[in-house]
Amino acid sequence: MIDLALRSAQDYHNAKAAATNNSESFWDDIANQFEWHQKWDKTLDYDFHKPEVKWFLGGKLNITENCLDRYVKSQPDQTAIIFEPNDPKEAAQHISYKELHSRVCRVANMLKANGAKKGDRICIYMPMVPELAVTVLACARIGAIHSVVFAGFSAAALAARINDADCTMLITADGGFRGAKITPLKDIADEALEQCPTVQSCIVLKRTGQKVAWNSVDIWWHDALEKVDDNCPAEIMDSEDPLFILYTSGSTGKPKGMVHSCGGYMVYTAYSFQNVFQYQKGDVYWCTADIGWITGHSYIIYGPLAVGATTVMFEGIPSYPDYDRFWEVCAKHQVNQFYTAPTAIRALQKHPSTLVDKHDLSSLKVLGSVGEPINTEAWHWYDDHVGKNKCPIVDTWWQTETGGILISSLAGVTKQKPTYATLPMPGIQAVLLDNEGNELEGEAEGILAIKHPWPSIARTIWGDHNRYKNVYFSAYPGYYFPGDGALRDAQGNFRITGRVDDVVIVSGHNLGTAPIENALNEHPNVVESAVVGFPHDVKGNALHAFVIVKDAAEQDGVLVSELRALVAKTIGPIAKPDRIQVVSGLPKTRSGKIMRRILRKLAAGEHDSLGDISTLLNPDVVQEIIDMR
Ligand code: WT7
Repeated sequence: MIDLALRSAQDYHNAKAAATNNSESFWDDIANQFEWHQKWDKTLDYDFHKPEVKWFLGGKLNITENCLDRYVKSQPDQTAIIFEPNDPKEAAQHISYKELHSRVCRVANMLKANGAKKGDRICIYMPMVPELAVTVLACARIGAIHSVVFAGFSAAALAARINDADCTMLITADGGFRGAKITPLKDIADEALEQCPTVQSCIVLKRTGQKVAWNSVDIWWHDALEKVDDNCPAEIMDSEDPLFILYTSGSTGKPKGMVHSCGGYMVYTAYSFQNVFQYQKGDVYWCTADIGWITGHSYIIYGPLAVGATTVMFEGIPSYPDYDRFWEVCAKHQVNQFYTAPTAIRALQKHPSTLVDKHDLSSLKVLGSVGEPINTEAWHWYDDHVGKNKCPIVDTWWQTETGGILISSLAGVTKQKPTYATLPMPGIQAVLLDNEGNELEGEAEGILAIKHPWPSIARTIWGDHNRYKNVYFSAYPGYYFPGDGALRDAQGNFRITGRVDDVVIVSGHNLGTAPIENALNEHPNVVESAVVGFPHDVKGNALHAFVIVKDAAEQDGVLVSELRALVAKTIGPIAKPDRIQVVSGLPKTRSGKIMRRILRKLAAGEHDSLGDISTLLNPDVVQEIIDMR
């Protein structure tokens, strides 16, 4: 286990002071808890203007030795992963550190035997089964860069991500179980691979047993695995070598491949996991996220395994076979730390609380929330019904780009405040800025920004360092700009108020409006479109699309279902707008820029607070949109 754990408010304040006074020696002490083949010769090199960030320069390591080998020595029989299948009648699996190490090494050899090597990009498009975690770690073992694509994405979205990184290999499955449904992963992958010339092999895990088509690049996982053993020394990596790419949406159509590197990411995910959740040896920790998102990378796989924890992986959904599945699983595996998203809490809160109360949740010690601001009602329901008012709730603010949690209380150690993420982690210099970029002091509301690098900040956008600079470091020179607004109370607690850019968080999924508009515009009858978010009581936000059509005579109902299908096909079902409204025009400035602020008000039904619309190019269209709803 990592030492330097923060066990009291005093520890937190000391660590914060130490990290602020001398960030390098602070992180040196933490990084020293890990196993390195060679110590770094410089802790930090950075310039936010360039921008460039490097941590533990010259250090040599392999993250899987830190997550696996050292625990094979110290606690071989300790459970590393508890796998809870979609179907509660299928047996759960308990995979020990020894067993996980052996499975990772074998799969690593399978990847090598099929041509993979250090630096190659390998795309992973798999259901939430143990083989997914094993494949991620196997890539890290051989120094291949994994790019996990969420198994809910469409063929077009998968192909775009494979091609952006020139992946040479795809690992997928025949299908994936999701509640009562099956996702035909192999069919989707086949469709994607028609457009992916760089992929030379596609390894297919058998999960559902459904019939699949077979192509020349395809290899069955079980056949390939038979040919290799489990002896696979770890590839020695430089601290700054890329560990993985993970795509996140942005305000243009193209997703951003955020690149995380080996050394800093390992140090920060382990440190934050240990301290935020106050994990103790032997605890059972469960994060309900999918490994297709950063939460799954950092807090199902790497963070927990790096401290020798037992981490639960759940294949299913909260509503299957009934709305008490989460609580049934908590009781079954005696979960101690439970980490989920506000959208899941809101969905479950709609059902009778007897569904929670009938399960013995006395093992729970800590609850966590991530992905979007948690509203007061959801916070209290979580606290009352799940935590029985005895479990601290950590509201963790972070992003794909930050790699790990930046603002959160430390469970039971620092004070919580409902709906507030509270205080920055030690070493995280969070500030609030006004629109001109001046730092605000004390109680204030403004734009959230971070002043100094932390070890797990993404180093670049794959293939587009300029975009990395423009999106994160140009709006407020000298700061990292995450795209969120926040307010701060007199005690220094932060409350995240939401995005200040064209990203909308729907059910905890980060969706750029631009790619959805591009998809809508592909329809032959669409001239122009604008997508905005509006408040939704379960999803947090939902999408409202305003579309201008060529042929207004076309049946609205048909058009709407065609447009929804088009978005599902281009991006994935999660991006389908809740509302599609045909309009004759969009409110624009005189320079032709769509006034999204006005569209957001219209979508939210706030017709009385539109502000001055007289300066618009086409003020009449606003009344028309209101009348047509
Ligand atoms: C965006 C990042 C962090 C992993 C999951 C999402 C929003 C995230 C919180 C929170 C308020 C939050 C922000 C952020 N967000 N956590 N605790 N309170 N908002 O990762 O897909 O990269 O999305 O999610 O808007 O910028 P992501």
